[in-house]
Amino acid sequence: MTYAVIGFGSIGQALAKAFARNGIEVSVATTRDPASFAAEAAAIGPTIIPKTLAEALKADTIILAVRFEAHPDIAKALPSWQGKTVVDAMNSNLPLEEMNGLLSSAFVSQAFNGAKLVKGWNHLLAATLATDPEVDGGHRVVFLSSDDADAVPPVADLAKRLGFAPVDLGKLDQGGALVHARGRVWGPLIFKDMFKKEQ
Ligand SMILES: NC(=O)c1ccc[n+]([C@@H]2O[C@H](COP(=O)([O-])OP(=O)(O)OC[C@H]3O[C@@H](n4cnc5c(N)ncnc54)[C@H](OP(=O)(O)O)[C@@H]3O)[C@@H](O)[C@H]2O)c1
Repeated sequence: MTYAVIGFGSIGQALAKAFARNGIEVSVATTRDPASFAAEAAAIGPTIIPKTLAEALKADTIILAVRFEAHPDIAKALPSWQGKTVVDAMNSNLPLEEMNGLLSSAFVSQAFNGAKLVKGWNHLLAATLATDPEVDGGHRVVFLSSDDADAVPPVADLAKRLGFAPVDLGKLDQGGALVHARGRVWGPLIFKDMFKKEQ
């Protein structure tokens, strides 16, 4: 399994730290030339590989850590998303009417046609996400939700390898709604920093 994080701002770098902490290789990409953020990537760790967007999108599992408005540009960068897993770490405060009446991850899923989409790593502040998720023998919870049940176990596996305790909330518009922002209303699990004693 190969991984990429698209976006290397607050959330992208917080995720990169988790990969580095566990010695797992991940490509990172932005709109910029990879040389322009190579020093920041190297400072996080040797397993953080800066790439162009086109190169990074060759990964099997791609985590979206860009502002919501940027996701259509990334979706257009590949002719087909078949065979890819897209992890949506974004939040949108757009009203539902501006997203075809859908919660944001279902809307994103339409743009990444053919991909398996899992929502995850969106509920914590970047500063929290950047810290070690293993605290006092407990593991920081990451909520996962998807309309494709088969897509969740490999992402849950990654979460465990990164030191998190994955919790499957089920479908996007069911348990997943608890971690969605709607307009200016945050889902009740957003910003809840929870720990599980056992994975
Ligand atoms: N910050 C938080 O505490 C927090 C918490 C939970 C969830 N989130 C969500 O996480 C997402 C990222 O937030 P952030 O705070 O990390 O944003 P950010 O600091 O502004 O970083 C966004 C990154 O995306 C890159 N980018 C922009 N357009 C791109 C494109 N078309 N292709 C590739 N890369 C692109 C930017 O790089 P260039 O512009 O240089 O290309 C930058 O590295 C948002 O959807 C936000 O709602 C944020």
